[in-house]
Amino acid sequence: MTALALRSVTAFYGGLAAVRDLELTLGVKEVVGLLGPNGAGKTTVLRAVSGMVKTTGGIEVFGTDTAGMRTEQIARLGVAHVPAGRGTFPELTVQENLDLALGLRPRQERHRRAADLDSVLEYFPVLGEYRRRRAGALSGGQQQMLAIARGLLTRPRILMVDEPTLGLAPQLAREILLQLRNLRDAWGISVLLVEQNAALALDVTDRVYVLAAGRVDRVSTASELTLADLAKSSYLGGTS
Ligand SMILES: Nc1ncnc2c1ncn2[C@@H]1O[C@H](COP(=O)(O)OP(=O)(O)OP(=O)(O)O)[C@@H](O)[C@H]1O
Ligand SMILES: [Mg+2]
Repeated sequence: MTALALRSVTAFYGGLAAVRDLELTLGVKEVVGLLGPNGAGKTTVLRAVSGMVKTTGGIEVFGTDTAGMRTEQIARLGVAHVPAGRGTFPELTVQENLDLALGLRPRQERHRRAADLDSVLEYFPVLGEYRRRRAGALSGGQQQMLAIARGLLTRPRILMVDEPTLGLAPQLAREILLQLRNLRDAWGISVLLVEQNAALALDVTDRVYVLAAGRVDRVSTASELTLADLAKSSYLGGTS
């Protein structure tokens, strides 16, 4: 069983296809990276999975075809989508942001709320420290942690994260991605990660897809692919 399977997916904005004939799978408990330059279609892939853009082809979440489903219905299948640019409520406190996410859990997961909150705060302790602070007053990296924490607290089976390290110092970026990997191990979730920094992505993922102009340019296990390979393919972004 795969967590996520995209079969010949084409995604449209109006009449324009931004992603074409995409074949992509995410295994259970796998961390898969989506790489590629600006405009390659990475965000569009996540939006297609979430039912936020018009698509043709087939998308299955744990074997369930999501054709015709609304975004909330797809979320209920266990898909959490952390958009680029954070996805938090800046006027609310850290605690309120976390509480709102806990409120979105499926009914059968209600009993684990406190334990999961404790677990998330172990991975991102700064959020515990700043519980009472407005989310908008957190640093970029802290806001990113809060966004990921919110995604996790909905108890997804698949966590999709769009560029969580954008604008962060390399050390913090690496820490956040390593925590995603640790969370995969501890919580048994599958992770689809959009990451511009190829070096970081190759470090923390099991497999990567390199997109270029809306198509898959390469698929590879992260250990097989080197930065030199990436430089040879049409991928030119974020390798420094
Ligand atoms: N709302 C939209 N309406 C029309 N076209 C769009 C829209 N959003 C994205 N596109 C186009 O779709 C293509 C893919 O965009 P997408 O945002 O998926 O790229 P990306 O790989 O996430 O890029 P980036 O690294 O800059 O975030 C681009 O050509 C973009 O201009
Ligand atoms: Mg994007």
